[in-house]
Amino acid sequence: MSPLTDAERKFLLELANEARRRAYAPYSGYKVGSALRTKSGKFYTGVNVESAAYPMTMCAERVAVYKAVSEGEREFEAISVVTDNGGTPCGGCRQVLAEFGLETIVLIGDGNGKLLQETTVGALLPGAFTPKDLPK
Ligand code: THU
Repeated sequence: MSPLTDAERKFLLELANEARRRAYAPYSGYKVGSALRTKSGKFYTGVNVESAAYPMTMCAERVAVYKAVSEGEREFEAISVVTDNGGTPCGGCRQVLAEFGLETIVLIGDGNGKLLQETTVGALLPGAFTPKDLPK
């Protein structure tokens, strides 16, 4: 069962939508916002940041994760991702999220703050390769 309350879900979607206004997406026009809640109760937002050298583009979810990790956080409760059309995290973002736990809740929402899907990293990345797969 999800440990998130409705108010917490709403807040994560609102934070992501508010951040999304700062997305830098001049090439695709596809603005993405994300908000990550750590188990310690902190929040980190992210937006997609595109580049004229296209492959250098960074997704919103990874920006949120990297901000959190660079601040010393590694345990995540939930992450929200919002777009105009309810797009889901890309494979690369699923892999990066899997590094920090398959149980992390993923909320997928739209630009109106509507929750379209609630799932987990593990459900989005079956058979994930994780740190446990590496020999010590
Ligand atoms: N994008 C994200 O920010 N997150 C995803 O999970 C999927 C894709 C961004 C990257 C690029 O700026 C734009 O969406 C179109 O691919």
